[in-house]
Amino acid sequence: MHTTRRSFLRTAAAGAVVPILGPRLLDGLERRLEAFGGLSADGAAAQEDYWREVRRMFPIPADYINLENGYSSPQPAPTYEAFLRHEASINGGLSFYMRRKKADDLVAVKKQLAELAGCPADEIVITRNTTESMGTVIHGVDLAPGDEAVMCNQDYGSMLEQFRQQSRRRGLTCVEIAIPLHPRTDEEMVDTYARAMTSRTKILLLSHMVNITGQILPVRKIADMAHARGVSVLVDAAHSFAHIVFGVADLDGDYLGASLHKWLSTPLGAGILHIKKDRIRTVWPLLGDTAMPADDIRKFERIGTHPSWTVLAIADAIRFQKLVGPERKEARLRYLQQYWTDRVREIAKVYLNTPTGSRACGIANFGITGQRPGAIAEALFDRFKIYTVAIDTVPVKGVRVTPHLYTTTGELDALVRAVGELARA
Ligand SMILES: Cc1ncc(COP(=O)(O)O)c(C=O)c1O
Repeated sequence: MHTTRRSFLRTAAAGAVVPILGPRLLDGLERRLEAFGGLSADGAAAQEDYWREVRRMFPIPADYINLENGYSSPQPAPTYEAFLRHEASINGGLSFYMRRKKADDLVAVKKQLAELAGCPADEIVITRNTTESMGTVIHGVDLAPGDEAVMCNQDYGSMLEQFRQQSRRRGLTCVEIAIPLHPRTDEEMVDTYARAMTSRTKILLLSHMVNITGQILPVRKIADMAHARGVSVLVDAAHSFAHIVFGVADLDGDYLGASLHKWLSTPLGAGILHIKKDRIRTVWPLLGDTAMPADDIRKFERIGTHPSWTVLAIADAIRFQKLVGPERKEARLRYLQQYWTDRVREIAKVYLNTPTGSRACGIANFGITGQRPGAIAEALFDRFKIYTVAIDTVPVKGVRVTPHLYTTTGELDALVRAVGELARA
């Protein structure tokens, strides 16, 4: 069957409350948000009218409330529209684009991404996701038998797996520690990691925002402690990047990986790898490029043919991010999280696995004493049409709830009512 672009756009938008409105979408949103004046981050956080305008840009599932935005983010309509346009235009001259234009476009997108990330452009690579960014480092640094890597049992499974692989291959020792769910001070976290280090420790894995609880770690302070002992630091920023406001260079990790399809809301398959300039030569690239000097980040860019339209759409996602405002985004996501956690905290048998205040932002995790996480998440979906995800690990037992910019307080009221009913059962 022949599919025209117009009918394809219609199909792509089917099921979404917001149809694809056209290339002027972002300009329209900009004008409508400007009408609110220069709202401060905190001033905007509880402004439902402001966020209703942002919500109109997102595809909203018609038959359930999506509170599982931790896996990945939907693209807002302006980014999705731009992505489709990039694909259509490149598809019309694939080889020409790849040979004549791709390199310049990559430079331009990297410049914008580096500016957003708060680091020099010659310290970043665009990858497919956090897993690839982190793996480039885990498998690329020189590690010898007897060397130790320190990590924690709340780090993301794929990173732990990659270190275990290095353990089999190179005889690396993986030291997996437990970290507190509700630390009282940053020093408590620094000490927890410091206690695990020995003279053989070479590298430290740190999750900036723990994916299963939403806890934010004091990465800079832990990195300072590690560096003082000559240990290099690999930061997993999958959930913090474009979610909370920070400069990658300010965190001072030696290496950092993040996914852009999570909180920057790019198309699936976009990530960033940052390596401090003077550390680039410490990582061997898997795929070449011997034509590049050892301290040139572009040695990691010989990755073969891949969808260039995804790379181009990163610039569109950045424009959306700037328009909403990174500070306002962080404040809104924290407001939404605290909106529901403050209310369920009052319900008998409900406990929180997420710390309070600035130690968390949009992601939080709760449990009900005596009930399995899987049973709670299933009941939320089957009985109340609220989609979350169960976390049933040794350190954390609960249900992860992740709202997004399009989430309304009305939807969170529905969650609070549902948790109350389940806890009383
Ligand atoms: C902390 C953390 N690291 C890494 C990843 C992997 O991200 P990706 O699948 O985009 O590589 C995730 C995914 O949820 C995560 O939460």
